[in-house]
Amino acid sequence: MKILITGASSGLGEELARSYANEDNELFLLARRETRLLNLQKELEPHTKKVKIIVADVTKFDELQKKIKTIGAVDMVILNAGISVGHSKDITPIDEFKNLYDVNVISNHAILEVLLPHFVAQKSGKIVFISSLASLFSMPSSKVYSSSKRALNAYAEGIRYKYKNDNIKVINILPGFIKSELTDKNNFYMPFLLSTKDGVKRIYDAIEKERRFYPFPLRFYLIILFLNSLPQFLRDIIVNSKK
Ligand SMILES: NC(=O)c1ccc[n+]([C@@H]2O[C@H](COP(=O)([O-])OP(=O)(O)OC[C@H]3O[C@@H](n4cnc5c(N)ncnc54)[C@H](OP(=O)(O)O)[C@@H]3O)[C@@H](O)[C@H]2O)c1
Repeated sequence: MKILITGASSGLGEELARSYANEDNELFLLARRETRLLNLQKELEPHTKKVKIIVADVTKFDELQKKIKTIGAVDMVILNAGISVGHSKDITPIDEFKNLYDVNVISNHAILEVLLPHFVAQKSGKIVFISSLASLFSMPSSKVYSSSKRALNAYAEGIRYKYKNDNIKVINILPGFIKSELTDKNNFYMPFLLSTKDGVKRIYDAIEKERRFYPFPLRFYLIILFLNSLPQFLRDIIVNSKK
């Protein structure tokens, strides 16, 4: 299988690359930090059919699309590159806001604009979105990140309906907290925090089972569902008590 993984230089993307490294797979690993990608390539090459690195900034859309075009058709793309902004309660500067949307939302369309015609032509393919449980519940400190992932959910859902008859599988993963460089920056309590290996094992299994919508861990998801089922005034009281 030919697989493109974005954000492969650390965290979930790096571990997902390890999960898919075997004699049958050709991996295309994309991120900005070249040294990290080269180290991973060195580690995985001995037991993988092919490992190619793509050094690219996903917010430089023209360059990104040129690089994606050189790959040609793939069997699966894991759209994992993502960032959060500091969970400060101050107003997020517009440049940071825009950059976050470029990475978390628009870059995925830039990549799919190139890949979708291949998927349609070959009448197969898997598109994996890495969203977040944060997309389902917005806290005052996570509003920008949460809103970007909620936009991603809407986009993923639309892509799934649009390409259902082309045998293109769309898999939307919504993790809770998993240890990574992204969560290492958080200075608040993270309920149900999973190790990188455990979190990625769950993501891998969900991809293999072609789960269309996979929020986890279940207990965290159920709490969010419960909170969302409450009348707005009660949610306001609960959220404001956490401020
Ligand atoms: N960890 C969690 O608890 C958690 C929970 C829910 C969802 N997620 C999502 O999971 C995904 C992976 O996050 P992570 O936790 O593994 O964080 P991470 O360790 O910080 O990894 C983020 C990856 O995205 C890449 N990236 C960021 N900006 C980029 C850019 N402009 N161009 C190209 N690549 C870029 C980074 O590579 P370079 O810096 O080398 O470019 C890195 O490989 C994200 O979409 C995140 O929102 C994470």
